Amino acid sequence: MGKIIAITNQKGGVGKTTTSVNLASSLSYLGKRVLLVDVDHQANATTYMGINRANLKYTVADIFHETVNIRDIIQKVESVAVDMIPARYELGNIENSLINHDNKDFILSNALEQVKDDYDYVIIDCPPSLGVVTINALMASDSVIIPVQCEFLALDGLTQLLNTIRMIQTKQKYNKKTLTIEGVLLTMLDTRSNIGYEVINEVKTYFKEKVFKTVIPRNVKVSVAPSFGLPVTEFSPRSKGSQSYQNLAREMVELNERA
Ligand SMILES: Nc1ncnc2c1ncn2[C@@H]1O[C@H](COP(=O)(O)OP(=O)(O)OP(=O)(O)O)[C@@H](O)[C@H]1O
Ligand SMILES: [Mg+2]
Repeated sequence: MGKIIAITNQKGGVGKTTTSVNLASSLSYLGKRVLLVDVDHQANATTYMGINRANLKYTVADIFHETVNIRDIIQKVESVAVDMIPARYELGNIENSLINHDNKDFILSNALEQVKDDYDYVIIDCPPSLGVVTINALMASDSVIIPVQCEFLALDGLTQLLNTIRMIQTKQKYNKKTLTIEGVLLTMLDTRSNIGYEVINEVKTYFKEKVFKTVIPRNVKVSVAPSFGLPVTEFSPRSKGSQSYQNLAREMVELNERA
C-alpha cells in the first residue's frame, strides 16, 4: 500500500523541493517504487528532475480540472527510476477556477487513490503557501515532512502549519486518513557557524522525537545539481548533500518498516 507524504512548509526557500527530489531518488535506490508529484506552479521539482516543461501535454493542473486520467499525466524521469506528475505555470490560476467546486479539497486525494498502490511512496512537493493546492496535498497525504532551515526565524509560521494539520485531520474522516508528522527535517546546516546548532536545539526542544536524526548540511553540489536537471544523488553521488539525503531515505524507510 503506497504511503503518501507531503513535503510542506509555507515558508519559502527552506528546502522543500530539494528534499522532494532527492528523497524520491534516494528511495528509488533502495528499490522503492516512487511517484513524485509537483503541486507548485513554480514547477521547480519538475525542472530539478530535468523535465522540459515546454513539451508537456498534460500537467498536474489537469488533475485539478478533472479533465484527464491521472495515468496519462504520469511521466518517467530520465535520470532515476522515479515516476513524476509535472507542474507548470497554469497551476497558478487554479484557485480561481475552483471557487464554486463543492469538494475542492479532495480532488488530488481522489486522483492519487487510483494510482497510489502502484507505488511504495508518493512524495508531494508543496508550494510555499497554505492555499487550496497545499490543502489538497495535505488532505491526500498520510504524513508530512516539514523541512526547517537551520537559520534565524526557523520556527516562524510553524504554529500556523500545525493548526492547519489539525484542521486537515478533522476533515480527513471523509477519505479515511489521519495525517501524521513523518518528521521534521533540518536543512542547510552551515557547520561553520553557531546559529545552525542553536536552531537544531530549539527545534528538538519543540518537536522532540519527531525530528529526523539526519541533518542536511549546506552543500554547494546540492545547489548546483538542479541547473543540470539532476538530483544531487546523481550529479555528485559522493557529496555530503547526496549522502545525507540517502541517509534520510534509509532512516525513513527503517521507521516505516519497523512500524
Ligand atoms: N542543502 C543545501 N545546500 C545548498 N543549497 C541548498 C540546499 N538545499 C536547498 N538549497 C538551495 O536553496 C534554494 C531553496 O531550496 P528549495 O528550492 O529546495 O526550497 P523550497 O522550500 O522548495 O522553496 P519554495 O518555497 O520557493 O518552493 C535553492 O536554490 C536550492 O538549490
Ligand atoms: Mg519549492
